[in-house]
Amino acid sequence: MKKAIIIGGTSGMGRALAEILVRENWTVGITGRRRELLNEIKATIGNQILTLVHDITELESSDKKLDQLFDELGTVDLVIVSSGYAEINRKLNWDIQKTVIETNVVGIAKTYQHLFLKLKAQGYGHFVGISSIASKRGNRHCPSYGAAKAFQANYLESLRCMSKKKNLGITVTDVQPGFVDTAMAKGPGMFWVAPVEKAANQIYAGVMKGKRKIYVTKRWRLIAWVLNLAPSWVLEKM
Ligand SMILES: NC(=O)c1ccc[n+]([C@@H]2O[C@H](COP(=O)([O-])OP(=O)(O)OC[C@H]3O[C@@H](n4cnc5c(N)ncnc54)[C@H](OP(=O)(O)O)[C@@H]3O)[C@@H](O)[C@H]2O)c1
Repeated sequence: MKKAIIIGGTSGMGRALAEILVRENWTVGITGRRRELLNEIKATIGNQILTLVHDITELESSDKKLDQLFDELGTVDLVIVSSGYAEINRKLNWDIQKTVIETNVVGIAKTYQHLFLKLKAQGYGHFVGISSIASKRGNRHCPSYGAAKAFQANYLESLRCMSKKKNLGITVTDVQPGFVDTAMAKGPGMFWVAPVEKAANQIYAGVMKGKRKIYVTKRWRLIAWVLNLAPSWVLEKM
């Protein structure tokens, strides 16, 4: 039986991915801060779920807690890091920026590093991060969120380069969703909002194929292409 860890498995895409993996006969360790949701998921899904109360911003205790989960599972074939925090922040409120950076940059960097090195020590595995289409270019609606997602996308590419060059045996996938109908998707002007199950199914299919990058849903590849080519004056009008 294959084994996975999902960081941020209490809701949204992380939870939906846990449900798919269990249906496909995986054992899955899920983490998050909300103990009641972890308990509810375990009670609903059953024995194939292990849970860990874990906050990626608690840097002192993070590695040790993740080691416990890793040890409980024994070996880990797949790590998915889904945790994230988003807030519209056109007024550049510092409290919001700080939480975004502490979660999506510092906490994520600590988590990526530790779990990637665990897979490296094990000698194999698949490492998946969920960045965002927002990683592509700057935007005026949530500046630190986009910048943090660019950090994640760049970091994931670097981990892939490391693994390939040094033959570490670790596949690295960057998932870049557009809008997905979760608690996180907020604000006006959203379009092509995908149901969470559809997004999770596409992520699962792409991960099983060992893809480097997965756009969710698939048509967001077109937006990614446009954003990559768009001149700055176009972004300034959005
Ligand atoms: N929904 C979208 O439109 C969209 C688009 C592009 C990218 N994304 C990315 O997709 C990922 C998943 O988000 P989602 O849409 O599924 O939203 P979600 O339902 O809000 O899920 C966010 C997950 O992150 C966890 N989390 C938040 N802060 C955490 C912390 N400090 N420590 C540990 N876990 C933490 C939450 O668990 P607890 O609260 O229990 O800790 C929850 O499980 C995020 O990285 C997000 O940036 C989402």
